[in-house]
Amino acid sequence: MIILETERLILRTWDLTDENEGFGIWGDKEVKNYIPTAKVLTREQVVMSIKKGIDHQIKYGYQHWAVILKENQKLIGACGFNHLDDEMENSLSRVDAVTIELSFHFQRSFWGNGYASEAAEACVRYAEEKLDVRRIIAGVNRQNVRSVRILEKLNFTYMGLVYFDDTKTFEPMFERYIERK
Ligand SMILES: CC(C)(COP(=O)(O)OP(=O)(O)OC[C@H]1O[C@@H](n2cnc3c(N)ncnc32)[C@H](O)[C@@H]1OP(=O)(O)O)[C@@H](O)C(=O)NCCC(=O)NCCS
Repeated sequence: MIILETERLILRTWDLTDENEGFGIWGDKEVKNYIPTAKVLTREQVVMSIKKGIDHQIKYGYQHWAVILKENQKLIGACGFNHLDDEMENSLSRVDAVTIELSFHFQRSFWGNGYASEAAEACVRYAEEKLDVRRIIAGVNRQNVRSVRILEKLNFTYMGLVYFDDTKTFEPMFERYIERK
């Protein structure tokens, strides 16, 4: 199902036939190095992750969508939202704010073309227009200047360092409140 389009990209829901492309993203050590909480995935884990994403879309109405390049119809990345589990929600949320998490992961060979910026901007606009949420957060690896830059361009504000129990590290967290149109 197509969720949204930008000038160069289509964002759609994931399908089980997307395994190879998913592995090209989440099976890549360099991509995973920059994601605060994650490890490199095996093919089986990629399939599990795609299945979880499909369920997530059904349950919450959003997911970490597949990003397709219009010019050749290739799946080049993932960008979208994650529902916060209760623990994360408790530690990060304020009482009045329904919060979701934005993330963007692209195949390495497509970095540096502005695709992540374009996709992330469209996702934030989608949240403003279509999702019943008040706040978006995003955690990044502090060495990843690209993702920090994307969040700055989208007017996210630095919240501070947040501890991730699985990797035992503190990573920078950013937030942006949703402006209702
Ligand atoms: C982060 C990531 C999605 C960026 O993808 P991308 O398509 O290369 O991003 P963009 O091309 O939109 O570039 C974003 C900004 O970084 C800048 N940038 C690109 N390459 C750079 C480099 N080597 N050094 C410094 N800045 C760089 C761009 O110039 C752009 O800023 P600008 O618009 O002010 O010029 C990609 O590197 C990735 O998948 N990383 C691994 C996963 C990850 O870290 N995700 C973020 C946390 S969820």
